[in-house]
Amino acid sequence: MKPLIACYSYSGNTLTVAQKLQDIINADFTRIEPVKDRWYLIKAVHAYLEKKWPIKPCITDMSQYDCLIVCCPVWASRTPPGINQYLKELENVSGKKCAALVTMGGDGNQIATMQIRENLESQGMEFIDKMAIWGKAQKSGEWETMVQDFARKFQE
Ligand SMILES: Cc1cc2nc3c(=O)[nH]c(=O)nc-3n(C[C@H](O)[C@H](O)[C@H](O)COP(=O)(O)O)c2cc1C
Repeated sequence: MKPLIACYSYSGNTLTVAQKLQDIINADFTRIEPVKDRWYLIKAVHAYLEKKWPIKPCITDMSQYDCLIVCCPVWASRTPPGINQYLKELENVSGKKCAALVTMGGDGNQIATMQIRENLESQGMEFIDKMAIWGKAQKSGEWETMVQDFARKFQE
């Protein structure tokens, strides 16, 4: 069975990283896209309040997969509302493995990765690992080595 990468990316940073991971581990890929875009401030406030935004259809049924890797940017130290909705829509996840990969401008991913972890563990998934790629690593290119290291977790 293949892993599934579920990726939300607003400005492309997370998408670049998630696609690199996909190449390395040969995963299937699904894009999480909110039905409508909102202003920057609304994005940050809704993320802070842990709101959910309706999303377009994407792969939410995990019955064909044994591992889910959720990839997204950090907003207001938290997960974007489209991700919160995605996690709620997941089906057939119990007993499967999962991980989180986030990108961010600075640091402070702890809440976002914990949100993903706690949500998926509460649905019966086994959390393997997380990776946070900060702005400096995105600019310097260090992110490529970080993703290669992270990918090993899904190849063992
Ligand atoms: C609404 C909003 C809130 C953000 N909040 C944070 C934050 O709390 N901490 C941080 O380090 N970066 C923050 N960022 C920066 C993004 O996490 C970062 O640029 C990320 O790599 C963007 O990924 P993307 O291009 O896949 O959308 C925020 C960006 C936006 C748009």
